[in-house]
Amino acid sequence: MSASFSSTTTSHLRTLPSPPPPSPSLRFTPTFRENRKQVTPTSTLIRKSNLCSWRSGRFVVKSQTTSAPASSESVTVTPVPSQMKAWVYGEYGGVDVLKFDSNVGVPDFKEDEVLVKVVAAALNPVDAKRRQGKFKATDSPLPTVPGYDVAGVVAKVGSQVKDFKVGDEVYGDINEKALEGPRQFGTLAEYTAVEAKLLAPKPKNLDFAQAAGLPLAIETAYEGLERTGFSAGKSILVLNGSGGVGSLVIQLAKQVFGASRVAATASTRNLDLLKSLGADLAIDYTKENFEDLPEKFDVVYDAIGQCDRAVKAMKEGGSVVALTGAVTPPGFRFVVTSNGEVLKKLNPYLESGKVKAVVDPKGTFSFAQVADAFSYLETNRATGKVIIHPIP
Ligand SMILES: NC(=O)c1ccc[n+]([C@@H]2O[C@H](COP(=O)([O-])OP(=O)(O)OC[C@H]3O[C@@H](n4cnc5c(N)ncnc54)[C@H](OP(=O)(O)O)[C@@H]3O)[C@@H](O)[C@H]2O)c1
Repeated sequence: MSASFSSTTTSHLRTLPSPPPPSPSLRFTPTFRENRKQVTPTSTLIRKSNLCSWRSGRFVVKSQTTSAPASSESVTVTPVPSQMKAWVYGEYGGVDVLKFDSNVGVPDFKEDEVLVKVVAAALNPVDAKRRQGKFKATDSPLPTVPGYDVAGVVAKVGSQVKDFKVGDEVYGDINEKALEGPRQFGTLAEYTAVEAKLLAPKPKNLDFAQAAGLPLAIETAYEGLERTGFSAGKSILVLNGSGGVGSLVIQLAKQVFGASRVAATASTRNLDLLKSLGADLAIDYTKENFEDLPEKFDVVYDAIGQCDRAVKAMKEGGSVVALTGAVTPPGFRFVVTSNGEVLKKLNPYLESGKVKAVVDPKGTFSFAQVADAFSYLETNRATGKVIIHPIP
């Protein structure tokens, strides 16, 4: 059984163009407008995201991180209400189809599922593409609460769930198959339901905001590397090393798989970030064509949609994995499968600080600012992850 939207929500989403009629969501709108003007100062964001900072106007990741527990955040998980606040859209389109609703039904959960009190969520390009209707054929029915990534606290558990109990701090990507029937009720809400097998304990040294940015991106990074057969001693070129996925491909290749050499592309402002993450060679795509360099690579990880050029940077017998765009053989594309076991496997690397969460210094938005956060993500200029925190 799945949760339902309140009847007022469903009717206004399905029948009315903007502006919507008076409703609980409309009453909330003036607060949003006020909040949108209250841009969080960069210094505050730096404090929130203790693994990265701006230096001399550039974004860098600290060379050493602590494995000390992240500052704890008090989260009340019981009693679970029947209605919750959520962002929803009832039609496909631009950012303006996103509406806030304070009367969405809290999702039901199955015996093998967990109900999570969402503390932080992250945006991914797939959220924007899905909202734009690019995956209509395999999408869940509208209206939709978007959001794949979550970090939060277990509020309820199904009868078959053995690994988690109420009060556990968890994180994960709630959609096992990113494009095949993703959940109608996503993570941009106070509560979300998710199969327990897709979750892992939140790394102890990360706060909820940092943890929320990891699941889909790090699972994609890991699965792509595995699918290329990447192993110790191999070289890799990462196209778009500053994005959510690429920033983790660089780190996993080096720290987990034992790459002999890592190169990555970014624009000028992000070259220091690439080096901070462990890249041996940072290529400025605004000044150089990576495929014209004499150096070739065992693997090219294309996280931007340049597969035709990527194959020219591959060593003979190497491989090219592409996340988006047209595929040029021998390149191949895959779509990520969410898997809590991968997160569990990677947790020690996160907890030791060998692999770091990269949160865009301008990219932590309040729950009231979800539409602004999508607009920012959709500039394609985000560095690392765009986070929504706190979620009330
Ligand atoms: N197949 C799958 O399972 C899967 C999974 C996850 C993601 N994806 C797809 O993979 C892509 C990357 O996702 P993401 O979350 O990493 O994206 P993202 O974080 O939104 O990427 C933003 C980054 O792209 C960089 N960028 C823009 N143009 C570039 C160029 N020409 N060359 C190199 N870098 C460039 C920007 O850096 P500058 O500002 O410096 O240009 C920015 O840091 C998206 O299309 C997404 O939909 C697919």
